Amino acid sequence: MATFVPEPFRIKSVEPIKQTTRAEREIFLQEAGYNIFNLRADNVYIDLLTDSGTGAMSASQWAGIMLGDESYAGARNFFNFQNAVRDIMGFEFVAPTHQGRGAENVLFSIMVHAGQVVPNNTHFDTTMANILARGGNPTNHVIPEASNPAYDHPFKGNMDIAALEAFIEKTGAENIPLGMITITNNSGGGQPVSLENIRQTAEVYHRHGIPFFIDACRFAENAYFIQQREPGYREKSVREIAREIFAVADGCLMSAKKDALVNIGGFVTMRDEELYRQVAQELTLREGFPTYGGLAGRDLEAMARGLYEGTDEDYLRYRIGHTQYLADSLLEAGIPVLRPSGGHAVYLDAKQIAPHIPASQFPAQAVTAALYLEGGIRGVELGSLMFAHPHPQTGEWLYPELELVRLAIPRRVYTQAHLDYVVDVAKHVFENRKSLPGYRIIYQTKFLRHFTARLEPIS
Ligand code: F0G
Repeated sequence: MATFVPEPFRIKSVEPIKQTTRAEREIFLQEAGYNIFNLRADNVYIDLLTDSGTGAMSASQWAGIMLGDESYAGARNFFNFQNAVRDIMGFEFVAPTHQGRGAENVLFSIMVHAGQVVPNNTHFDTTMANILARGGNPTNHVIPEASNPAYDHPFKGNMDIAALEAFIEKTGAENIPLGMITITNNSGGGQPVSLENIRQTAEVYHRHGIPFFIDACRFAENAYFIQQREPGYREKSVREIAREIFAVADGCLMSAKKDALVNIGGFVTMRDEELYRQVAQELTLREGFPTYGGLAGRDLEAMARGLYEGTDEDYLRYRIGHTQYLADSLLEAGIPVLRPSGGHAVYLDAKQIAPHIPASQFPAQAVTAALYLEGGIRGVELGSLMFAHPHPQTGEWLYPELELVRLAIPRRVYTQAHLDYVVDVAKHVFENRKSLPGYRIIYQTKFLRHFTARLEPIS
């Protein structure tokens, strides 16, 4: 039996969710063109589309909402938020933004110029797109073990230090305006990065005179993995580890919709005052005055309180245990999942579940559609629907190595019984896997087609 960590909270307020019948879901799915992005959320029973902005706030955060100071400039909640960032991360200057990609836009518009390159372990889609939008070139240098779904590695999000070093030598540091690392590595399966690897990455960037920024959405989950898995950190608190992580960086970008436990918000933070002045000017132009940056005072208060709650060790033990419980229960049922389980999500290996469906007929899409049809569960396809693209010269379709279905777990939202239900539905889908149909696309856009594509099953 998979072990579990009981919830370190009780439930004060509930939100009804609707169970639908299979016959109803058949119609909803058909109307949605078999694309879960086109479903109405009301018709989803367990929504595992994302862990971003979908968490439950605490009684203290809701109380903080009522203490929002909605002054245009210098609201008290900004100072509470600034103090929380200084205390937990150790950066002097902080600029709030409406969410993570707002922070990316502001920072990259100042730092990244056409033709320049920004390395990372693996860029998240919006980070990549915001660099491309400036004419820059985002590159990924995660360790090669990251692309093997069955390979167990405690820090599968690590940067390949030798590859990074060689890449900088080849590219020339003068063409790299900043270097990044993403903790945890979302696009690589929510896998953590070790503190040793973060330090080595910082050392390589700094030796070449390149500023080092961390994409820190899930830094608390990453710090907890360091405490549990990296030799020498068992006795350190998560907050001490977080301070050690940020101590080697020049700043960070954060979508607060993850580890700061809010429904909306983000920020960019740094040590350098001159950079902050430029950020503040850009912020005023695009997001809002530097003490609110596109958020209400109440949002800043929720974020300040959320930063402390997201780094609470009882919470993190439960959070990581909760995800692990789902992964272990699926494995026990014989269902192939990406190993080891990440912090915020469990990834089903659709290539193994539906080997009879070729990549051109979207095996991960087939599993995603079946989870909704059989149980009203919404995961998200990370396979050929999202990533396949034609070769720029030959036009031949290139398919990704992995065909995954991400089940992202909202924070403090679903109980263990909900997870057991997910396992039961996944078992049912797995037992009937041979009858899963492939899909063909009947409508698609040129870019980011997975969001709006319409499909139909191939009979
Ligand atoms: N960086 C990482 C690593 C992310 O996972 C995300 C968002 C962002 C930046 C952008 O933040 O959404 O607040 O603008 N990830 C979400 C997800 C959308 O589903 O994984 P945002």
